[in-house]
Amino acid sequence: MLKKIKDSADFIRKYLDEEYETAIILGSGLGALADSMEVHHRLPYKEIPFFPVSTVEGHSGNLIIGKFGGRNVIAMQGRFHYYEGYSMKEVTFPIRVMKLLGVKHLFVSNAAGGVNPTFRAGDLMVITDHINLFPEHPLRGKNMDEFGARFPSMTEAYSKRLIRLSETCADALGINIKKGVFVGLQGPSFETPAEYKWLRIIGGDAVAMSTVPEVIVARHCGMECFGMSVITNATASPEEITTSHTEVQDVSNSSQPAMTALFREIISRM
Ligand code: HPA
Repeated sequence: MLKKIKDSADFIRKYLDEEYETAIILGSGLGALADSMEVHHRLPYKEIPFFPVSTVEGHSGNLIIGKFGGRNVIAMQGRFHYYEGYSMKEVTFPIRVMKLLGVKHLFVSNAAGGVNPTFRAGDLMVITDHINLFPEHPLRGKNMDEFGARFPSMTEAYSKRLIRLSETCADALGINIKKGVFVGLQGPSFETPAEYKWLRIIGGDAVAMSTVPEVIVARHCGMECFGMSVITNATASPEEITTSHTEVQDVSNSSQPAMTALFREIISRM
């Protein structure tokens, strides 16, 4: 596995002229942030040795190397989900590649269901913490000591510094943000009404099928993380909710400009 990670990183490194300390993972319907980047290189995943390839509709699979908010940024346009059949090692493979490339700050975005009854479709939620309900842990198995400790702490999975900065930036831009706990589930079915209610009881504010594995692996290797959910379907009345992938994509597409503006501001002031 380490050899594959190194080979992938060696291939990408040829396209990096300077230091790249910031990476962004773009979630469902949120890939257009890359259109606001000054793109230096666009590497389709299928051209990168050992990189998995994304299969889900609405996720293009490209690694974008360029500038965003005045900084060098590597963006993943499209990510790998556990429900697609990838192992947890594959889902989190790009994070370790990024680590070898020198990335220190990881920004993740996702389209999520709003579990908190006060949330509405289109809201942006800064992730303050998460609950991991995936059936397999991404760090299960022999520890990769090259990357981090066997029992990594998750007390500050999401950087307090970046959460504070996001609030300052949201104020400055006049963007209304929510904050809350993200729950990661395997999917691919959306939740039943009973499950949405249960997620509320256990302390969740938003739910989706990604992010948690990547953040765990990023924290294992010492990256500072910032996460944002675009609430695509509010589940205030769980019995009435109808969630569909098209709806998720439509809402995330329309909330995308605000998220892009906020990410740009945070990254430029970081
Ligand atoms: N549940 C799980 N994943 C999601 C949802 C949801 O309601 N909305 C967008 N991704």
